[in-house]
Amino acid sequence: MKSYDELFTLRGSTYDQAMTAFPDARRAEFDQLFRNCKPDAGSRVGDIPAGGGYLKSYLSSGCEWVGHEPCASFTNHGAVEVGQPGHPLLPVPWPDAHVDIVCSLAGVHHLEDKRPLFAEIHRVTRPGGRFVLSDVEHGSAVSAFLDGFVGEWNSTGHEGLYLGENTLAELEGAGWEVEHAATSNFHWQFAERPDMAAFCSRLFDITRASADQIDNAIEDMLGTTRLPDGGTAMNWSLFTITCVKR
Ligand SMILES: C[S@@+](CC[C@H](N)C(=O)[O-])C[C@H]1O[C@@H](n2cnc3c(N)ncnc32)[C@H](O)[C@@H]1O
Repeated sequence: MKSYDELFTLRGSTYDQAMTAFPDARRAEFDQLFRNCKPDAGSRVGDIPAGGGYLKSYLSSGCEWVGHEPCASFTNHGAVEVGQPGHPLLPVPWPDAHVDIVCSLAGVHHLEDKRPLFAEIHRVTRPGGRFVLSDVEHGSAVSAFLDGFVGEWNSTGHEGLYLGENTLAELEGAGWEVEHAATSNFHWQFAERPDMAAFCSRLFDITRASADQIDNAIEDMLGTTRLPDGGTAMNWSLFTITCVKR
């Protein structure tokens, strides 16, 4: 199995192309991060790993965004300057108590031991600050889609180490108090049906399946809804955990 750094050195730039071509597709995914803790104006929000800095445009005005992204390939388009691309994930290159909230979206599911990252995020968060962790849930339809269809047909394979009950104990062990933990169901949305396969093909670098095969796999494994305006909503879900540093 390739390490995450290797995977995203290969896949980061196509992932970024998908996010740049369809910047609103994952809007609901970014919005659900703040369902249980909305950053106040004046908050400094950390984003680890930040990818191409996509979270930045979903923060309310007055928030300051700081991102840490280990893979330079995400930032090829140059639209967002992400803090020190190419720096290893750990240690996080920020001082103690640097941020009010840290978000980690869809980034830890290839990290075998997540505890050192949870401890580093605890260190860089101020007392009273929060950590929102949102990633694929063990045993979910999304995990089956990623490790099954995506892993079979993309450029790198896919074997995730997803979130489960043990994640809550790991967070507590790193000093966090878990306030809320639940499956979060939402949609990725597209103006036209073909956009869905075009987006997923690039996001996951699915090089060996046709657009029709991708569309069929999404329909069968995840499900979709036709929107009143003619668009398509594709089912997606994550496990989202909000913690506080006492
Ligand atoms: C699926 S992307 C998510 C990016 C962004 N948070 C988003 O939601 O679009 C996975 C992220 O994990 C990052 N990553 C790279 N090496 C890693 C590592 N060793 N451990 C954890 N994450 C790593 C990648 O660079 C990438 O930013």
